Amino acid sequence: MHHFHYKDDRLYAEDVDLTALAESVGAPVYIYSEATLRRHMQVFSKAFAGDDALVAYSVKANSNIAVLKLLADEGAGADVVSGGEIKRALRAGIAPEKIVFSGVGKTNEEIALALDVGIYQFNVESEPELDLIAGIAQEKGKTAPVAFRVNPDVAGGGHEKISTGRAEDKFGVPMAQARALYGAAQKIPNIRVTGVAVHIGSQIAELEPFESAFTKVAELIADLRTGGCAIERLDLGGGLGIPYGEGLTPPHPDAYAEMIRRVTAPLGVRLIFEPGRMIAGNAGVLVSRVLYVKAGAEKRFLVLDAAMNDLIRPALYDSWHDIWPVMRRDGAATVEYDVVGPVCETGDRFAKARQLPEMRPGDFVAFMSAGAYGAVQASQYNTRALVPEALVSGSRWAVIRKRPSFDEMVAAEEVPDWLD
Ligand code: LLP
Repeated sequence: MHHFHYKDDRLYAEDVDLTALAESVGAPVYIYSEATLRRHMQVFSKAFAGDDALVAYSVKANSNIAVLKLLADEGAGADVVSGGEIKRALRAGIAPEKIVFSGVGKTNEEIALALDVGIYQFNVESEPELDLIAGIAQEKGKTAPVAFRVNPDVAGGGHEKISTGRAEDKFGVPMAQARALYGAAQKIPNIRVTGVAVHIGSQIAELEPFESAFTKVAELIADLRTGGCAIERLDLGGGLGIPYGEGLTPPHPDAYAEMIRRVTAPLGVRLIFEPGRMIAGNAGVLVSRVLYVKAGAEKRFLVLDAAMNDLIRPALYDSWHDIWPVMRRDGAATVEYDVVGPVCETGDRFAKARQLPEMRPGDFVAFMSAGAYGAVQASQYNTRALVPEALVSGSRWAVIRKRPSFDEMVAAEEVPDWLD
């Protein structure tokens, strides 16, 4: 459920008219609904209300500090994958004891930062990473809380590029090596083994792959305990999909919770979750202006002012985003368009042969479900300014990341003296 709706044929986010907002900030612009973000966090937390659980929002999905701050206010911790994300989480007021550090390539500096601030847990993905963390912890006279992310060899995920739990993927340690690794880690003085972590992919629309992976992990925990290893926590990652309007109906968090309870209750572990898309995805839209309606030799193109650098998901994962007119016209004919951006690549296409109400230059359109992995994956390709972000809350709204000026865009670039 989200708070984007039509009032008198004008698209609103909560009580804010998106035409007025987009006119004021300029297009393209990402617009988030605070009520939707809060609601998604509440629904997910409520599903596990009776359990000992930490919901560590996956910062990578939408890392704007205002977004993190309001989720922190709802009790969210943070799942981070870089030193930068640790700093964002802290700046948003998320306590270090609620920060879980994931990722396959943590650097010395990032590990040192995480130890200095005292994060809740490192999700370790290899033996060399364990050794590095142990060494840095020893130098600092600290103890690192560690879970191993295991690779259960289960396929799941809405696209080949976001499936992470198969044996061929770079993520996690193979189940077959896990027991030996836990045995070794237990003997390292500056390491405290806390638990097991797993994450099999993103935009997963069925419970089966989760259940299959979690069952394997539950068996591993029982096995590790038999071998004398105390496992207190189980991090089940993120991955729960959302409806993008393409016909999929992913499970409700309550059904997900019911399955998890069935699989994990006998273990008596503290659960950790890392939802990203499920919290932010349907809480944001990208509003763009129609520049031209172009008649090609074979098709009609809707040329927008947004491009693949602003929302890369369709180009990268062939993903579907519903496209809604920001203002509806009575009796508008339905027309088939290829919806494209101005970047000089054929892949700069948001939708192929999409049926939309007839559009005119100057109209705004909204890409729905763009709150997760939208703005965070934007770039300045083609020297296009990073797309700004606005947050709506009831009848209020504010810009939460402004559009940079040309000077700001090139501020970090320097011409060496020999070229002067
Ligand atoms: N935890 C870990 C270790 C992850 O790698 C991810 C996502 C999450 C949690 C959050 O997963 P979620 O709940 O959002 O599915 N850019 C892609 C998605 C990449 C997901 C990467 N990992 C997209 O736009 O679809």
